[in-house]
Amino acid sequence: MRTQVGIIGGGPSGLLLSQLLHVRGIDNVVLEKHSREHVLGRIRAGVLERGFARLMREAQVGDRMDREGQVHEGFQIACNGTLDRIDLKGLTRGDTVLVYGQTELTRDLYEGRDALGGTVIHRAEEVEPRDIETQAPYITFRRGCEAIRLDCDYIVGCDGFHGVSRQTLPKHRVREFERVYSFGWLGVLTQTPPVSSELIYARHERGFALCSLRSAALSRYYIQVPLTDSVDDWTDERFFEELRRRLPDQVSATMVTGPSIEKSVAPLRSYVVEPMRHGRLFLAGDAAHIVPPTGAKGLNTAASDVHYLHEALVHHYIHGDDGCLDHYSERALARVWKAQRFSWWMTALLHRFPERGDYDQRLQETELSYLRSSDVARASLAENYVGLPF
Ligand code: FAD
Ligand code: PHB
Repeated sequence: MRTQVGIIGGGPSGLLLSQLLHVRGIDNVVLEKHSREHVLGRIRAGVLERGFARLMREAQVGDRMDREGQVHEGFQIACNGTLDRIDLKGLTRGDTVLVYGQTELTRDLYEGRDALGGTVIHRAEEVEPRDIETQAPYITFRRGCEAIRLDCDYIVGCDGFHGVSRQTLPKHRVREFERVYSFGWLGVLTQTPPVSSELIYARHERGFALCSLRSAALSRYYIQVPLTDSVDDWTDERFFEELRRRLPDQVSATMVTGPSIEKSVAPLRSYVVEPMRHGRLFLAGDAAHIVPPTGAKGLNTAASDVHYLHEALVHHYIHGDDGCLDHYSERALARVWKAQRFSWWMTALLHRFPERGDYDQRLQETELSYLRSSDVARASLAENYVGLPF
């Protein structure tokens, strides 16, 4: 088999890149380890920046998102029993975010790939990028009993944090930056009306909580839990009792609860690998960097990588210019680090850090009170939350 760009990973990054390249006439093949149903079963991101939505439209898969996605002009921060609204639209130049689930946008991308006749190979096992330092890289993989070789000009690793692509980079040529947190988020999805029309991020001495949503009838709630906890430790009753305790009374009083239709624990981690390219292998999305979900930046940062990379490949194939490919890692990382900073800051602002002492506790309280009193601080939060330009 031969293609121009071999893409490893059929999550949102891989599918979006594939669709954008196809629209510009660049041939590509996506290799995905799991089945389509498995990929669509993952409940993850919910908040999209405008830049992400723009890319979905450019990829000709934005219609349903534009019809069904909810524009959010602000969100709430709950602390000490009160709510403080961050007016995203008013604090930026009219910018907003879109609430549209990762499951839905992945479904739209798969349908887009089908409509254009794109090649996505599912259940590709033992995928391995090879000869990435040469002009003729290729990928080997197995499908059932068949061993297959995919020759390509370039390979893009979009295979998430646990994928194979990053492992292929020679250890002595890369630098890794990491922060691991001692807690995770326990998330629950329920078929109930959301407690609030806007997201509520809550700081509480018992730990962080988040009230999010997918639609008028579907709620997504999270609470901070120790990493040692598993979903089996948390019945629905215990989950909602704890969530209510962390929210202001006027919010918990109106919360409608129901049986969970999904429950999972996500550990929190900050990670970046530099550079995001070696030879003819490029990395994009969670394969190269991850953030704690507090600032809703993971998928949105994956989108900016995809933007820079697809633009660079278009320059190469259509204009014969390799300048953007050569600068991909640098350009992508400049934005990646800003998302890292913001996600770390928002995590530090709102979570309980059991290992920290009274001094840090006071600093956290002061940061929140400064945020409440300063328009400049609020504008900075809003600017980052809606997404820095790319
Ligand atoms: P992934 O989604 O991990 O996709 C990688 C794909 O590669 C997978 O389909 C996998 O099966 C495949 N793969 C792996 N290994 C191989 C292999 N060896 N061969 C072939 N295929 C392979 N981000 C936001 O922007 N906003 C939010 O609101 C938000 N909320 C979140 C909430 C939670 C609880 C979590 C956990 C994350 C959240 N994120 C959010 C982050 C977001 O979900 C990720 O950043 C996003 O999924 C990254 O997409 P990706 O395509 O790069 O990687
Ligand atoms: C979600 O709806 O899953 C979500 C929303 C905002 C975040 C993280 C997750 O910051």
